[in-house]
Amino acid sequence: MSIVKQDVRGGDQAQATTAPGRDYEAELAALRTDRNRWRAEAEKLSEQFQNTPTIDRSYLLTKGTMRQRQTYHALAKEVKAADIQRRRELGQKYLAEQKLDPDTSKLVVLQKDGFASVDLSHHPLVQDAVKECLDTYQGAIDSGKELLSKDSLEFVGDAGWPFIASGGVYKLATSPLLLAPVIRYFGMFPIMTGFGLLSARNEEFYPHSSQRLHFDPEDRTQLKVFFYITDVDETSGPFMAVPAEDSAVLYNDPDFKLARQDDTAVREGSIRTFTGPAGTAIYCDTCRCLHAGARPGDKKRLMLSIEYNIPTHLHSKLWEGDPVPERRSRTLKVRDYNLNEYTEALLAHPKPA
Ligand SMILES: [Fe+2]
Repeated sequence: MSIVKQDVRGGDQAQATTAPGRDYEAELAALRTDRNRWRAEAEKLSEQFQNTPTIDRSYLLTKGTMRQRQTYHALAKEVKAADIQRRRELGQKYLAEQKLDPDTSKLVVLQKDGFASVDLSHHPLVQDAVKECLDTYQGAIDSGKELLSKDSLEFVGDAGWPFIASGGVYKLATSPLLLAPVIRYFGMFPIMTGFGLLSARNEEFYPHSSQRLHFDPEDRTQLKVFFYITDVDETSGPFMAVPAEDSAVLYNDPDFKLARQDDTAVREGSIRTFTGPAGTAIYCDTCRCLHAGARPGDKKRLMLSIEYNIPTHLHSKLWEGDPVPERRSRTLKVRDYNLNEYTEALLAHPKPA
């Protein structure tokens, strides 16, 4: 099949009969055929290459090269074209019909940066979420139980437990205040794959941890919104990120495999350090921007992380019958009994029984 030929033919016909233009019907038909062809290709690949690096999402997640990741996500975009189109339309509808919040209605996360930050400490939704996080942290300390930890980070609370749908964190995560810039950045309505409260002791340096610069592995693009729950200055292990255009040296290297990097791996002066009072929000594309944080300092840091993805992310099955299991989204544990079309799309799972 040749899309180019059909395009040209369509254009000629249109010029002969009406105004100069394209034959959209022919283009749509070509795209539909193309999408089906990609789906068939993907199914063939799964039979031929089951459990090999070509299609194994678990392998890609941990060991894939940038070239393999790029190929996989281009394929996933084709296979999931219908869901992506649906989310594009839903995103447009959301921006048009929801009452956007003045604090972020104009906030744009530029593609060249891949990050943006805004002080929202005065906002009631943010204040409620900060309070819920502080109460949760205090409750965890008072209980005397040891927190689950990994290197410099401790996991204090998670979507569904203890952050339920009636709480401040969930209300913030599903609000236009947060979602509008995310929709604009992706060009579509996102999936919320998780949120949780993290505590950083900032005591020791762990060379294999996220204290060193790294990319996250889930997709070629994703957005995390980090909220400082405690005031963060230079001495409390602030979040750090390198603009996408400066991270491109590794992001676009086809042979690069995700690995922690020293600060010298990027252009001098390109690392941005984010400080601010509790209630500061940092939007960051952690797949396109090298980032790090929680480095040793004098003070502890509490941070809420809210994660948004698009349908191509690696924890999601590529197609029905994909042999690699789907990793359960952390937001599946949230029981929202008042789902609407937006929250349903955000949680991307069926209504609770
Ligand atoms: Fe990360």
